[in-house]
Amino acid sequence: MTAVDSLLMIPGPTPLSPAVRAALAEPMRSHTSTENAASMRRIADGVRACVGSRSARVYTFAGSGTLAMEAALINHAAPGDRVVVCSHGFFGDRFSEIASAHGMHPATVQAPWGSAVRVSDVERACSESAAPAVLTITHVDTSTGVLADCAGLARIGRDAGAIVVVDGVCATGAVEELMDGWGVDVVLTGAQKALSVAPGLAVLAVSERAQHRRAQLDVHAYYADLQRWDPVVDDPTRYFSTHATGLLRALEVSLDEIAAEGLPARFARHRHVAETLRSGFAELGFESLAGTDVLAPTLSVLSVPSGVDEAALRRGLAERGVVVAGGLGPFAGRAIRVGHMGTVGDAEVSRTLEAASNALSDLT
Ligand SMILES: Cc1ncc(COP(=O)(O)O)c(C=O)c1O
Repeated sequence: MTAVDSLLMIPGPTPLSPAVRAALAEPMRSHTSTENAASMRRIADGVRACVGSRSARVYTFAGSGTLAMEAALINHAAPGDRVVVCSHGFFGDRFSEIASAHGMHPATVQAPWGSAVRVSDVERACSESAAPAVLTITHVDTSTGVLADCAGLARIGRDAGAIVVVDGVCATGAVEELMDGWGVDVVLTGAQKALSVAPGLAVLAVSERAQHRRAQLDVHAYYADLQRWDPVVDDPTRYFSTHATGLLRALEVSLDEIAAEGLPARFARHRHVAETLRSGFAELGFESLAGTDVLAPTLSVLSVPSGVDEAALRRGLAERGVVVAGGLGPFAGRAIRVGHMGTVGDAEVSRTLEAASNALSDLT
């Protein structure tokens, strides 16, 4: 079974639609061309629609989700500043690591793996000692499959005067986000998950309030300094650093497909796919490790039935052409992570469940 025939059911990168694959194969464009500039303007509109903002400034540069996380922190907090991190898993913790690497002081509110951070705990963290410069929320943590209460957490951050940063890497484009309505200042993501493009783009939507904070800071970075990108955002034919033109064209096509499906329909499809996949796996003896009230629509973290070797199960699935990921942190060795975002629909769910059933039969 080659990658061409395999079904990629990991939580990103995700399968690409035929139109997005065709866009990636288009002839190369100049990074300062009017065609690329037009794509970037349309991308900004599409991203604003996905994150629920009318006026956010959209930055798209070559890099990954982690670069977008780092840019979101260093442009809105200075060394020595307090950063409240709402963490329900591996990627929430990454914000604490980035903050520490830049001499900031992270106050991490950590939920047990499988649960969401409680608003009351964050309220307490925000009121202790110095006011936080930034509060971070991981909308969906890809290590636990937990969906955060973005609206509730953002309100606490706003009340504390913090710039509210949401990591939407495993959510944006598949789960409703209301940046303006929730009072969120930055939504960041990468191209390779629910936006259904290949990896390699860092995407940030930034509020006016956050731009104002950036203007007050001395940022000790070059490529990740958002102010250096501002002339390019204003006029995408200008050069600061070479754009990932092929990926941008693919993102434009993917955002067109998202708009054609319609965001409410797309969010409903993700919920339906998640429920179908989870109930199929439950019949096979798997259990979701995230609490039932916080289950994300984009991926499932499933404990394998007792007595089943998790690595052998994943090998069995791969032999049948379905690729899933292993558990992380405390879930390593006892859970699989199955992504179901972007283009994934009923056919892919059926194929995954059939492969899992057959792989299990071989192992038990
Ligand atoms: C929620 C979340 N945030 C951040 C990242 C980091 O993104 P990247 O691997 O593109 O650097 C990931 C990657 O899986 C993620 O799932």
